[in-house]
Amino acid sequence: MYQLIDGKKISAEIKEEVKAKVAEYKKQGVEITLAVIQVGNDPASSVYVGNKKKACEFVGIRSLSYELPEETTQEELLDLVKELNERADVNGILVQLPLPKQIDEETVLNTISPLKDVDGFHPMNVGALCIGKAGFVSCTPAGIIELLKRSDVDIAGKECVVIGRSNIVGKPMALLLLRENGTVTVTHSRTIDLKEVTSRADILVVAIGKPKMITAEYVKKGAVVIDVGIHRDANNKLCGDVDFDNVAEKCNAITPVPGGVGPMTIAMLMKNCVESVALQNI
Ligand code: GUN
Repeated sequence: MYQLIDGKKISAEIKEEVKAKVAEYKKQGVEITLAVIQVGNDPASSVYVGNKKKACEFVGIRSLSYELPEETTQEELLDLVKELNERADVNGILVQLPLPKQIDEETVLNTISPLKDVDGFHPMNVGALCIGKAGFVSCTPAGIIELLKRSDVDIAGKECVVIGRSNIVGKPMALLLLRENGTVTVTHSRTIDLKEVTSRADILVVAIGKPKMITAEYVKKGAVVIDVGIHRDANNKLCGDVDFDNVAEKCNAITPVPGGVGPMTIAMLMKNCVESVALQNI
């Protein structure tokens, strides 16, 4: 029998904890504010941004919403980011990705003040994570660490294998598992014998972007499997990168899709907004 790692429940707990901290800050006269910028109206981005604003409302964080037209120039967006960097009443700045093609994402992300970078994408924050200093950590991998800890999964000394090396998930995931004293291997599309490597994992984090690719033959018996993917299968049903029905019985614990990693990202964004106050006052 496997343990189902319940991201919905754990994210709700985190949001309750954040809500209590936001209320404490309010009592001290501190109102936490997140500026959310969306350029254009990509439907998926609109859903994500809507959910982020709803989460802010739930925990008591003030959100400022900037909905810019698709044809916004890079300069116009950079001007807004710089203005928000300067504003003392703004704690966090989030620019929803992807951005329209006339705007260079890296330039925009590098312009957000590292002290307001609640997404944890700025090179200063990535560097801080790398050398073990305080800073913002990318929300999805930070959420995965919370899922593991709150499900009583020990990381120290374990064989941890990450599939995927993106800047947002794979690389920070590997650094966080290392910070928790895991023995970490990062695999990717050029890995020669993926199954051989993943079959060694006590903890397997899958962020490969291919629906149901990971079947039982990739997984060691008794492993903990974390699925970052979200897709629609041939029947229009949500599924992950892991073939859940094929893999689950072989695991000690596994995240479902939906209801696993997904809800953790926004909960950790809220947590980062609260932590921004302390970081800004160091
Ligand atoms: N687009 C998809 N995921 C994210 C995220 O976590 N942050 C931002 N800013 N944009 C995204």
